[in-house]
Order: sequence, then C-alpha cells, then structure tokens
Amino acid sequence: MLSLDDLRRSEYPLLDQRGHVYLDYTAGNLCPLSLVERHLALLKTDILGNPHSGNPTASRASEFVDRARSAVLNFFNAAHDEWAVIFTANATQALKLVGESYPFTPTSEFLLTFDNHNSVNGIREYARARGAGVTYVPVVLPDMRVEPSEIEGYLVRPGGGGRRLFAYPAQSNFSGVQHPLEWIDLAKNHGWDVLLDAAAFTPTNRLDLGRWRPDFVVQSFYKMFGYPTGVGCLVARREALRRLRRPWFAGGTITVASVQGDKYYLAEGEAGFEDGTPNYLALPAIEMGLEYLQTIGIEAIHARVREMTDPLIQQLVALQHANGQPLARMYGPRSNDRRGGTVTFNLYDRQGLPIDHRLVEEQASAANISLRTGCFCNPGGGEIALGITGTELSSCFHQPEHETHLTIDDFRLCIDGKSTGAVRVSVGLVTNAADVSAFIALARRFLL
Ligand SMILES: Cc1ncc(COP(=O)(O)O)c(C=O)c1O
Repeated sequence: MLSLDDLRRSEYPLLDQRGHVYLDYTAGNLCPLSLVERHLALLKTDILGNPHSGNPTASRASEFVDRARSAVLNFFNAAHDEWAVIFTANATQALKLVGESYPFTPTSEFLLTFDNHNSVNGIREYARARGAGVTYVPVVLPDMRVEPSEIEGYLVRPGGGGRRLFAYPAQSNFSGVQHPLEWIDLAKNHGWDVLLDAAAFTPTNRLDLGRWRPDFVVQSFYKMFGYPTGVGCLVARREALRRLRRPWFAGGTITVASVQGDKYYLAEGEAGFEDGTPNYLALPAIEMGLEYLQTIGIEAIHARVREMTDPLIQQLVALQHANGQPLARMYGPRSNDRRGGTVTFNLYDRQGLPIDHRLVEEQASAANISLRTGCFCNPGGGEIALGITGTELSSCFHQPEHETHLTIDDFRLCIDGKSTGAVRVSVGLVTNAADVSAFIALARRFLL
C-alpha cells in the first residue's frame, strides 16, 4: 500500500511540479492519473455502443453500466434487493428527480436545515407549487450545528396527513459540520421520508447504508475521486422510489409509449428515472474510481483529512494583529469533533472590520493557491454566519428594481456594510503539511 504522500507524487504529480496548493476539495476532488489511464485503456480495447440498442456493443456497455450500479451498492454496503442506484449527471440532478416526483400535497411538509446546498433548497419550489408547507430548521453559531432539542421538536410533531420529507446534508459544504446520521432513524420513526445529501460527506467518510436507511441519498462522483465529472447518483430505497410520481416520461424511461394511443408505461425501478442515454462511456470509470478509493481505504482518507484539518484550524484561529485583534472569525466547529475538512471564515483587520473575501481570493490566486470564496451555493449557511437577517433580505428583495433581477453587486449594496461571503479552505486525501503552511503564510500577509 502506498502512503498518501507517495500517492500524491504518483497520482497527482502536477501539484508539486507546478507548485500548486489545492485547497478546494469540497468543490471537487482532483483527478488521479491511474484512474484516467485505466479508463482510457478500457476505451482503447473495448467497443461500447449506446446501451439502449440490443446489439453486441450495446450489450457490452450495459454490462459496464450494471457493474457500475453493483459497485456503488457494494461500496455503500447497500443490499441489492433493497436499494436502487439511478445514475444522473450530478447530485443536483438526483435532487431534482426527488423534488419533481415527490408526492407533495397541501397536507405535506418539506423540512430542511438552514445549511443545505441550493440544489436541496430548490426542492422547496416543487413543494410550494403543490401547496405543501416548507420549514427551515436553523443552525446556530459558532459551531453552526442544530440544537438537538430543536430538531427533535420538529421531527416528533404530528403531520397534516400528507407525506413529509426531511432533507439535510450529512456534512455541510459551508461549515464542515457533520449532522447526526441518527436523525435518519428519529425522522423515519416519526413518519418522515429522509433525503440525505451526502455530496460533501462521501469523499472522506464511510456511509454504511446497511446501518443507516434514509429513503434517498444523493452525491456526485467527481467529489469522491475526481474523475469523471458529469456522473452522480440517486441511491434510493426501492420502496421509497415506488412512492415517487414522475412528472413526465422520456427516452429510456418507458416500456411503451404511444402517440395515437396517448399513453405511456414507465419502466420499473432505476430505468424509470434515468432520462435519455446514460453517460455510458464514463460509467465504467465509476467502478474503477470506487476501486481506487477502496485501495487507499476511506478510513485512511478520513484520518488524513482530520490530521490536516486540526492544525489548519488551530493555526488560523491563533493569528492575531499586533493589537491583539484576532485575524479570522470561523464559522463552524474549531475542534475535530463531528466535522469534515471544510474550514470557513472571514478575515478582519486590526479594527475588527471585515477584509473583503474577494481580496483574499485575489491574493490566494496570485500565490497559486486554489480556495473558494462567496457563499458556496449555501445561502442559509451564509446568512447565519454573516448575521444577515430575514428582514434585511426581504427589504432588499422587495425593492421595485429588484422584483425580477438582482446581481451580486446589487445584493452587496443592499445589505450595506455586511460581508456577503466568506472564504472556504478545504482539505482532501493528498493535502500535506506544506499546503497548510502555504495557506497560513497567505493569511499572515493580512496581519498588521
Ligand atoms: C453538499 C452539497 N450538495 C450538493 C451539491 C451539488 O453537487 P453538484 O454540483 O455536483 O450537483 C454540492 C456541490 O458542491 C454540495 O457540496
């Protein structure tokens, strides 16, 4: 077994050759050389055709699609007769499948935490369009966790009769907080269907679907192993899948559809949800990518991320201006307890005024450091972290000139004086101490 430092040299040689400090693993993992080479070798030696045909090249492609499905189930320890894997373009498309098909009614409810990604937030529009109630559960500073009694209060209260959906991220892409997977059992015991957004969790944590049984799990593979992009999945309990009502049909999703007879019959199981031609050339690389992770070991990756996150946080929060003012204010837990390798913060000057996150990004880019700034498609996390209130937002959104159009610059002016974003640094499987030091050196440049 290669050490992770050896792996960095052999699989990601460009990082050190180009002197690049990559600290944006929450956005996407890096592409390992051997995975691309293995995939390319397959494409050079096999003839794969559109699996919707019945010819030999189609059958060969179907074989790889089936193998990819099995590999995903095995990776997550999900029983093949209980769970289905629906391949999508990304986690977002998997979320959309659930949102558009969930049987929301006026007596239904959609419950979600504040720190969801926009691709989960967007489901509220499907819920509202069908008259369902939408409720957000706040996360609380400084750790940005949910108060246990609060979530319990929401989950145990009786519903209105319609089906109820509870959605949350297993790990927040804003704060790195890992919310309890125990919420799944609690919610299900009180009649909720559970949608677990695992996109930021699965790259560095084991998700055991033999132990945890949410109804729907979504994620993107490029976040897990960097290659290929353009493939994600919805892993769903077959029983939960049967409750979904697709709003349309498409090529690949039906057994029979007729023009003159004006009727269609949806295919059962995964096929009924995979719109159009699957990404059949990329799918063989999913099995290879999962094998790649298994060879390294998800526990080893998890341990590496913890090992890098702790010094990153401790060094960052220790930085002080000459007058004793702390340089950084973090949004999320400062200890390694129940958190991932995503560290979000803003820098402040010696008077305690925020330093524009765009300036930090500019300086980082000049130093060949890739990090992320803004709100990371997680507006609820941003609003809590930055203390932007509902009243402020509503007065901004209700200005006549903002009825249909609002640029990010308009938004900045609107919530005058407050920071509209933050800086996010995230570590991954081949982050090393030098990466952490390079970032801390960058932060030090803002000290006065
Ligand atoms: C927690 C979380 N959910 C969902 C998504 C959406 O993933 P994708 O853009 O691959 O659809 C992301 C992407 O950053 C994420 O971090």
